[in-house]
Amino acid sequence: MTGDTPQPPNLFDQMGGEARVKALAERFYDLMDLEPAYAQLRAAHGPSLDSARDKLFWFLCGWLGGPQHYVERFGHPRLRARHLPFAIGIQERDQWLACMDQAMGEVGVEEGLRVRLRQSFFQTADWMRNQ
Ligand code: HEM
Repeated sequence: MTGDTPQPPNLFDQMGGEARVKALAERFYDLMDLEPAYAQLRAAHGPSLDSARDKLFWFLCGWLGGPQHYVERFGHPRLRARHLPFAIGIQERDQWLACMDQAMGEVGVEEGLRVRLRQSFFQTADWMRNQ
């Protein structure tokens, strides 16, 4: 499978729909800005995280099996290609995953779902490595 592969449809509903997915994307980027542990990951981004927030929210809705907001706006995600301009090694991958896991915890993603998404996020993030 590739990291673009959408997850089965019920995950979006299990998450709690758009409001919860939005909260997750917002918390993810808030933490990236705030936490020293994610400094390298933050440095890989530009000065503003605003467009990244929207894009991650739209992407995750579809990836979790909900509405395809990202694809409607930008076409196929081609996530690996879109990440090629950024140097992504083990450290960036692991900071992304830790930041997402912290965000899932803080927005209250149910533990079973969190464990499952942790695995799926790992596959997608690892497939993004280009170093
Ligand atoms: C593995 C470490 C990762 C790093 C270092 C990284 C870094 C970045 C950076 C620097 C951007 C550009 C943000 C901007 O336009 O301001 C970006 C965009 C994006 N990232 Fe990541 N990312 C990683 C993993 C992931 C993963 C695992 C996902 C999805 C599960 C993801 C989803 C996205 C999306 C949807 C965009 C917007 C793409 C676009 O349309 O331009 N990223 N990422």
